[in-house]
Amino acid sequence: MATPHIAAEKGDFAPAVLMPGDPRRAERIASLLMPDARKVSDVRGIGAYTGTVNGKPLSVMASGMGMPSIGIYANELFAEYDVRRIIRVGTAGGLAPKVTVGDVVIALGAHTDSAMNTSRIPGIHFSAVASYPLVAAAVAAAGDATNVHVAPVVSRDHFYGNPPEQIQALADYGTLAVEMEAAALYAVAAQHDREALAVLTISDHLLDHSQDMSAQEREENFARALLLAVAAAHC
Ligand code: HPA
Repeated sequence: MATPHIAAEKGDFAPAVLMPGDPRRAERIASLLMPDARKVSDVRGIGAYTGTVNGKPLSVMASGMGMPSIGIYANELFAEYDVRRIIRVGTAGGLAPKVTVGDVVIALGAHTDSAMNTSRIPGIHFSAVASYPLVAAAVAAAGDATNVHVAPVVSRDHFYGNPPEQIQALADYGTLAVEMEAAALYAVAAQHDREALAVLTISDHLLDHSQDMSAQEREENFARALLLAVAAAHC
């Protein structure tokens, strides 16, 4: 069987899927975590891999960038492949002094400027929130690490052009980071009565660009976030 964007058989995906943005990162995560990983789909160069971690099945597949892209893959995985939970493992830009590059943010909820959630329930400002059991598992796996935060993030449609007054207001409301996918993922999971979480590594900081990660560091620097994501995947 196939969906418009995934060519895999029913049963090829594990109940839990780790979802980085970058297809190369997906391949790296799969080979790092699962010596027994097999490729189950490769439509548009978006490799999907399934194997086992500590004897438990797991899949890894990239989302691409932005809410429309993750919305498509999450929809197809939940609706056609019976995936039960998706954990995004991505990067985000820090927007408050409380976070620094290399920190991890467990995204409790995701504000958004996207119309994708505005149009979901007419008359309602949809509240995109993570699944509590996954949050609890990731928090437990973090132990007493000081550089892991649990907080709202913002999912924006534009990577470039963050209005400073908007970033300041979001920070004033306790928002720690900006990325481009979590709000759509959380909403699609709610729509399908499934679970979702985003575990984000801070790769750059909007208030101070001196520590920003290079493209290669972004690709490699996810080990801690990965541990928390696997704990959530298998809780
Ligand atoms: N903005 C949006 N998405 C991001 C950023 C950012 O600064 N950094 C990593 N993903």
